[in-house]
Amino acid sequence: MTTTTLPAYDLTGRTAFVTGAASGIGRATAALLARAGATVHCADRDEDGLKETAALVARQGGTAHTHALDVTDRLALAAAVSAAGPLHVMAAIAGIMHTSTVLETRDEDLDRVLAVNFKGVLYACQEAARSMIASGVPGSIVTMASGAMDTASPGLLCYSVTKAAVVQLTKTLATEAGPHGIRVNAIAPGWIRTPMTDRHEPAAQQQAEAAMVRHSPLGRVGEAEDIAHAVLHLASDASAFTTGQILRPNGGVAMPW
Ligand SMILES: NC(=O)c1ccc[n+]([C@@H]2O[C@H](COP(=O)([O-])OP(=O)(O)OC[C@H]3O[C@@H](n4cnc5c(N)ncnc54)[C@H](O)[C@@H]3O)[C@@H](O)[C@H]2O)c1
Repeated sequence: MTTTTLPAYDLTGRTAFVTGAASGIGRATAALLARAGATVHCADRDEDGLKETAALVARQGGTAHTHALDVTDRLALAAAVSAAGPLHVMAAIAGIMHTSTVLETRDEDLDRVLAVNFKGVLYACQEAARSMIASGVPGSIVTMASGAMDTASPGLLCYSVTKAAVVQLTKTLATEAGPHGIRVNAIAPGWIRTPMTDRHEPAAQQQAEAAMVRHSPLGRVGEAEDIAHAVLHLASDASAFTTGQILRPNGGVAMPW
């Protein structure tokens, strides 16, 4: 397959593991990392979506392996990472949205969002770092935070708390894994058009997108591929001196709150 002509972005011969790869940002990331030359391991709980991602990668001439699993299952994730062999890249992207006001938030809501959005990312980071240290690979770990990590909006307590926790995990692991040559960075996207944001009523969807467009100097909402390119940058040697950082691909939106 023809890959990039820019050597720093070339992932030929490298192995990348992508969680949340059955949809949206995860699928776009798996496809782009494969286009850059990586062998991609796609993990998600959605088996049908995984097959579609693998077919997309194959149509591009790349190689994708699929792992149907729940990222909250530490043992399943460990087994999949181990089966992938020495990892060069981990993109921990799987996540869920949850909305409830502070007063309506139940223990089970908080537990589930924390389990997927924080523990799932923690397990992915741990398994990736163990693989990289054991094989002596100076790899790159990319986590998925959100602009919600440091803004407040009604109903988003659980989600935003988990994304702030992902940032803290990212920075802490960067300090601990750096001496092994492992880089750890987070991406905090703004509003990106994916199945996660498409679940609104059409009128509410249009209103939300129009607000984003109004607040963005670039005058558009983001697409999954915009975030995939940010992941490629952090996964590749192009960002060799970057670690412990939060990249904010958000169209320049300054949240009004
Ligand atoms: N879309 C946005 O506007 C936006 C903005 C900021 C951050 N993000 C973050 O980006 C990431 C991807 O979001 P997206 O917009 O592509 O959403 P999406 O719903 O299209 O994709 C999420 C994927 O994660 C998978 N997943 C969810 N829970 C899982 C679990 N327990 N185990 C395994 N797989 C699981 C889903 O099956 C799905 O394939 C999420 O972490 C999200 O919080 C999205």
